[in-house]
Amino acid sequence: MLYRQKFDTFIRIYQDLSCPDVGYITSKSDFGDRVTDASGAVFLKALSRKPRTLQELTKDIAASFIGVDPASIEQDVIDFYKILEEDGFIISGETEAELDAKDTRFSYSALEPKTIKNDFTPVILRAEQSSQQYLDEHFKNKPHLTQLQIELTSRCNERCIHCYIPHENKISDIDPALFYDVLDQCRDMGLLSLTLSGGEPLLHKNFLEFLRKAKEYDFSINILSNLTLLNDEIIKEMKEIRLSSVQVSLYSMNPEIHDSITKMPGSFVKTRDAILRLIKNDIPLQISCPTMKQNKNCFVDVLNWAQTHKVRAVTDYIMMARYDHTTGNLDNRLSLEEVGTVINDIINNDDDYQTEMANADMEQGDAHDTSNDIICGVGVSSICMVANGNIYPCPGWQDYVVGNVRETPLRTIWNTSPKVQYLRGLRKKDFPKCTVCADKSFCAMCMVRNANEDPDGNPLKINEHFCKVAALNRQIVLDWKEKLKKEVVL
Ligand SMILES: C[S@@+](CC[C@H](N)C(=O)[O-])C[C@H]1O[C@@H](n2cnc3c(N)ncnc32)[C@H](O)[C@@H]1O
Ligand code: SF4
Ligand code: SF4
Repeated sequence: MLYRQKFDTFIRIYQDLSCPDVGYITSKSDFGDRVTDASGAVFLKALSRKPRTLQELTKDIAASFIGVDPASIEQDVIDFYKILEEDGFIISGETEAELDAKDTRFSYSALEPKTIKNDFTPVILRAEQSSQQYLDEHFKNKPHLTQLQIELTSRCNERCIHCYIPHENKISDIDPALFYDVLDQCRDMGLLSLTLSGGEPLLHKNFLEFLRKAKEYDFSINILSNLTLLNDEIIKEMKEIRLSSVQVSLYSMNPEIHDSITKMPGSFVKTRDAILRLIKNDIPLQISCPTMKQNKNCFVDVLNWAQTHKVRAVTDYIMMARYDHTTGNLDNRLSLEEVGTVINDIINNDDDYQTEMANADMEQGDAHDTSNDIICGVGVSSICMVANGNIYPCPGWQDYVVGNVRETPLRTIWNTSPKVQYLRGLRKKDFPKCTVCADKSFCAMCMVRNANEDPDGNPLKINEHFCKVAALNRQIVLDWKEKLKKEVVL
């Protein structure tokens, strides 16, 4: 019998002298994952992308369990891999051809429309996945870097009116030698997920080589792009690499409105056609459709269009200020009244959001939210880098520099930078107003959003606009529930 990982699964063994090993396997097809204890980690480590026989696997694994009967190990191997196969992470078969035939990859034709409907709900910074929580808890005293976002270039062919990168700073490309050096360091640190963003990443002349290289390192790759520069060669490469998703920005189905946001005539047609080409090629996509004054009356058309194509689409009505604390881009942000209309649009259109809100406990907030919880993955599992090697906590927070990889290895920055340690140490209790807030279940409190809008860049200074939006959201849901109750009585 032969076993191997599926094409779009990733395995990591997290090792740390201060605690037992942990095994981790994740599948990008259905976004599921599993965590194992130290024994399970040995079984996971034996697997690879190349088929291995039951005998080879048993022999490797037995070497880690001195004094255990080989026959019982073989049975454990069969049982352990059977569960992983049932859960869709690995495949087994008598021949390589059988394995290849069983290794079904992401395909739009295999998706149920219902799974898309679930995602109509706007992203209101939801809870982390349970496996991530497990890992965060396990590595509480020594967090592991699992996600890195690299801004390959700050240059861009669009001039979006809401962009958090000041237009005058859209000028620099990453040096390929620096990119490859950082990938080496990431491999040594056991990084799982690499996001390539910009500016517009497809503008970098080495973009294709970067993709090929990232595949060699076996990272799960995400790309954030406006896709206006997509071509056949890039599509071919996207199919070859283990791409988790491409996130593309589409603001309206009306070409004039989309182009009035990007300030690039013809951008709508290019982006829409590129999306259709990626769908045709079964490349997993997510559409991002931030809502602002220009598209407040038509963003729903983008969500509906995405749904008919079985593509996940998310919207977000809270725009952040530019990272240099100039706030001119916020002139395009929705007023409170306009946000109210958008939330009403969502609650009236989305069955899943309705079900969620019907069952929500409006008074208690999130029962799991204790004051010792971390705020988010910043400094705990994720970090970002720009073209000049500056490391910073989170997309859009480029001026909060925690180190530079030209001067200091990434691992040292991650482990010892005072700024990383400061952010890592922050807890919900450091935002006392939030811990007692009745609106917190409806809140997207976020440190970069606080910092960018504050002239002094203070991440702890709660931005009042977000509080007003959260209170409004809660009130709309309360009113809707009240209306629902009356309808039931009638
Ligand atoms: C900075 S862009 C980089 C990738 C690519 N150029 C694009 O537009 O998709 C990544 C995402 O950030 C969003 N974005 C830009 N400025 C923003 C802001 N001020 N607040 C919230 N999201 C913003 C964009 O709409 C886009 O979806
Ligand atoms: S949002 Fe993306 S496409 Fe628009 S200007 Fe910013 S980096 Fe460029
Ligand atoms: S609404 Fe304001 S006070 Fe309440 S949780 Fe959000 S940011 Fe904190």
